[in-house]
Amino acid sequence: MLDRPLPVLRRPLVLIGMMGAGKTTIGRRLAERLGVGFVDADREIEAAAGRSIPEIFEEYGEAHFRDGERRVIARLLDAEPFILATGGGAFMDEETRELIATRATSLWLRADLDLLWARVSKRGHRPLLHTENPRQTLADLVERRYPVYAEADLVVDSLDGPKDDTVNACIDALQDASL
Ligand code: S3P
Repeated sequence: MLDRPLPVLRRPLVLIGMMGAGKTTIGRRLAERLGVGFVDADREIEAAAGRSIPEIFEEYGEAHFRDGERRVIARLLDAEPFILATGGGAFMDEETRELIATRATSLWLRADLDLLWARVSKRGHRPLLHTENPRQTLADLVERRYPVYAEADLVVDSLDGPKDDTVNACIDALQDASL
């Protein structure tokens, strides 16, 4: 990695993956390293709605959130190359997936269930996990979503170590793909 020039993004890079995969943390650091902008789709959705994600789910339901998410991602992708972290369900929406395939490069930040659970169980702000057995809910989502996430252009394992190791793995993947 060190002996190769840093990759230059020709299209926006969209990070996909489960809640707890580290899309926001890794995305922000990766953007800094590559000298491009960083946007978190969930924060944009909240700004557009004037409400937090739990409030949007509670007041309007998941379908309404997904509509907003689709619109916000479409608006954001109409821009210069930058890095976009998306919420875990965004890539499951067929229209959003097609849009990402047309306008961007997708990178799946993959993590195993134990690592995801270790991270998400520390915080309670994810409405989809407000269930009787949130670990099982997370496992069900992993099972349903991973075959779809596998359609991403690039796959990088989110490591349970220093964040920069995962950032470096993303840079390697981008270099290998010569994007
Ligand atoms: C969701 C993940 C969340 C947020 C919403 C729904 C999901 O984002 O978009 O709570 O469907 O997995 P993160 O993946 O950033 O936690």
